[in-house]
Amino acid sequence: MINIAKPQMGPEEKQAVLEVLDSGIIAQGPRVKAFEEAFAAMCGVKHAIATSSGTTALHVSLLAHKIGTGDEVITSPFTFIASANSVIYTGARPVFVDIDPMTFNIDPGLIESTITPRTRAILPVHLFGLSCDMDPIMSIARKYNQVVIEDACQSHGATYKGRRVGSFGTGTFSFYPTKNITSAEGGMITTDDDQVAEECRVIRQHGMRRRYYHDELGFNFRMTDVHAAIGLAQLKKLEYFNRTRQENARFFSINLKGVVVPQVPQGREHVYHQYTIRVPNGRRDALRTYLQEHGVGSEVYYPVPVHQQTYYTQELGYQVSLPESERAAAEVLSLPVHPALSHADLETIVTRVNEFMA
Ligand SMILES: Cc1ncc(COP(=O)(O)O)c(C=O)c1O
Repeated sequence: MINIAKPQMGPEEKQAVLEVLDSGIIAQGPRVKAFEEAFAAMCGVKHAIATSSGTTALHVSLLAHKIGTGDEVITSPFTFIASANSVIYTGARPVFVDIDPMTFNIDPGLIESTITPRTRAILPVHLFGLSCDMDPIMSIARKYNQVVIEDACQSHGATYKGRRVGSFGTGTFSFYPTKNITSAEGGMITTDDDQVAEECRVIRQHGMRRRYYHDELGFNFRMTDVHAAIGLAQLKKLEYFNRTRQENARFFSINLKGVVVPQVPQGREHVYHQYTIRVPNGRRDALRTYLQEHGVGSEVYYPVPVHQQTYYTQELGYQVSLPESERAAAEVLSLPVHPALSHADLETIVTRVNEFMA
């Protein structure tokens, strides 16, 4: 079976974990600090704050910007649920804006009309490894004095006009095992703002500025040194992993027939967290079954846009129509693109897709 994802654990990760276990400092300690510094350097920002997951990175970022009850946060409905749930956790309400059908990312042309006096932030999601169109998003944010929180959980190292994602606003990343780099579980917040960074560190650690003095409500959202050691070893391989994903993607885009392959607008570097095709004419699910029967794993990211998830319709009362997100949910299929694929795997994937679509 060719799996949709495969974490790449080498001797470096194993050695790094053993060193932590032998060191006696296994919760948040020097490895977390080293991982934060290296990650900030990769993104080209002043600060990085490690957390227990991408979800907690989003949650802490929103709280650090004082977003809460009564506020609205503009985001994409075509994403993993955590992008929107993190807004719900704060008491604020996600306002969904439809996607650009070419990139699967939030359509900047639709944002301005959804801004209300309650809007506090724009939360663009750089889906599948491709940056959102950041120039218009940042200019709307400036015009309406909005915070920008980037969900870069799928886009480690991706660039927009030469700048890394996570360096435009407050960035958030996930190190879940399917991601371009992993720490088993983990997350990271990136920012150039000293005050936001400080607030994130305080919220991550039970609202504690001085030891055992708690001036505000916080959480235990810390990363452990065991996870940071894995993350740090993985970060050193990020360029290689991303390059390999890009090479695999190029092979697919040249050779796949009968499906719509990913489009990359000029000035953006796609890091292919997912290689996501559109399968026309209602044949997506049948293609997926065919691939499964022939040893090729695939996945639908995502079958239901957030505004149509049961919790959002039944409990939160969302009743909005976002046609491009709904169409994408019916047509998309992600193929394995990870760095562990052999050339024979790539050929098998292309052959199976093309013979089904022919
Ligand atoms: C777009 C997006 N946002 C947020 C998350 C949440 O990250 P985590 O699973 O590390 O909590 C993920 C990861 O699964 C994601 O893909």
